[in-house]
Amino acid sequence: MTNLLEGNSCVFGLQWGDEGKGKIVDFLGEQADVVVRYCGGANAGHTVRIGNEKYATHLLPVGIFRPGVLNVIGNGVVLDPEVLFKEIDEFLSRGIAISPVNLKISYKTHLVMPWHKQEDAAREMASEGNSIGTTRRGIGPAYADKMQRSTALRVADLMHEEKLKQRIGQIVTERNKVLDCLYEVPPMDWKAIFEQYRDHGRRMAPFVDDTTQTLLAAMREQKRILFEGAHAVLLDVDHGTYPYVTSSNCSALGLFTGAGVPPQACQNYIGIMKSYSTRVGGGPFPTEQNNDTGNYIRERGNEYGTTTRRPRRCGWFDAVAVKYSVDLCGVTQIAMTLLDVLSGLEHLRICTGYKHRGQRLEAFRADMDVLAEVEPVYETMPGFNGNISGCRRFEELPKEAQLYVKRIEQLCGVPVKMVSVGPERSATLMR
Ligand code: GDP
Ligand code: IMO
Ligand code: MG
Repeated sequence: MTNLLEGNSCVFGLQWGDEGKGKIVDFLGEQADVVVRYCGGANAGHTVRIGNEKYATHLLPVGIFRPGVLNVIGNGVVLDPEVLFKEIDEFLSRGIAISPVNLKISYKTHLVMPWHKQEDAAREMASEGNSIGTTRRGIGPAYADKMQRSTALRVADLMHEEKLKQRIGQIVTERNKVLDCLYEVPPMDWKAIFEQYRDHGRRMAPFVDDTTQTLLAAMREQKRILFEGAHAVLLDVDHGTYPYVTSSNCSALGLFTGAGVPPQACQNYIGIMKSYSTRVGGGPFPTEQNNDTGNYIRERGNEYGTTTRRPRRCGWFDAVAVKYSVDLCGVTQIAMTLLDVLSGLEHLRICTGYKHRGQRLEAFRADMDVLAEVEPVYETMPGFNGNISGCRRFEELPKEAQLYVKRIEQLCGVPVKMVSVGPERSATLMR
């Protein structure tokens, strides 16, 4: 493979998630020494296809499939130990080596507790018609507790069992009152939760690390670090389509706090985007195609959630939204995925502008009330046909497919260096 990674890189989604970050991180992982997850939790679902095997990771960094790569779960993640160990056990049984040698977990990482999942599900069910459409993995309540402080627990707390017992007792007593009062949730048994988390802590102990020190040492040794983003820029809690977002800083801007490294730690910002748009859950989606085109894309692209199996909403490529993400995060190169999915459509449409109340908007606006009303302005291009998944050079693609990529590249203002035409590692064209 040509040398793609001069320095360290951050790989992250430019749309609303599921852009194929798993595939691209796995592909680039061949050239990495360290892979770091810096945000989100088990709400993420990253798919990796290696030969006939298909893996879905929710918490483990995707470098786990590359022998010799060190994987780090950073402090910006919210960690559900039950999901983590389920994932580890599944992969171990499938022959993937996972041990404290290739997996480190920051002691500062916050924990997802059973009451977070209860609250997430109860609030979603109670907010008829206004729900966010969360994955119900307890993500919002866990991050809210992190900011709240007195009701939060971190990985480090698992290492002090007596204090853990007291804290869980206190928090459960309080949570039981609140959850009963608001949602009539049956009370939780603090002792059972304590025992479960005490056992998780004992199993986790060998993996727990001061990961900032580990990453600083890797930087000094000129090791190549890949920062693996979860979710995407338009789901970022500050910069996404709030409130229809997830609860972390999942754009590239979150990598420094979330991985616990200085700004000098990353030089390349590799944005991943699909050749069209998708979104799971609620929220405005200007280019959504709730019609035959959307259904065609969903079936060809197998656009069903990796974590929840929910059908993903599908639509045309939105260059206004992607340009916003590119500019916000200082993207230095782009990987376009799932180009093969568009084959067979007579015309391809690209959203190149928005109209709001008759006026052209100069830029994307992460304001739900504006976005819900915008009218996309489209440019139409000829479609292409045939199975392109076997192509291995950009020049082998049908001329129309090449023109489509080049037009999007022009609109984004950043080189599209990689084009993915299938889920396999090998189905990746370099430009
Ligand atoms: P992530 O969350 O960004 O890692 O993306 P997901 O794994 O949730 O969803 C992407 C889906 O597209 C997965 O099923 C991948 O195997 C698949 N995929 C990735 N790249 C390509 C591609 O170029 N073509 C096709 N057909 N599938 C792809
Ligand atoms: P990956 O990493 C797609 C969406 C949920 C919901 C909103 C809030 O696989 O790209 P949450 O459970 O986080 O509170 O839900 O965010 N969401 C994602 N959508 N891909 C993801 O991750 C997502 N992570 C969260 O569907 O609309
Ligand atoms: Mg996903």
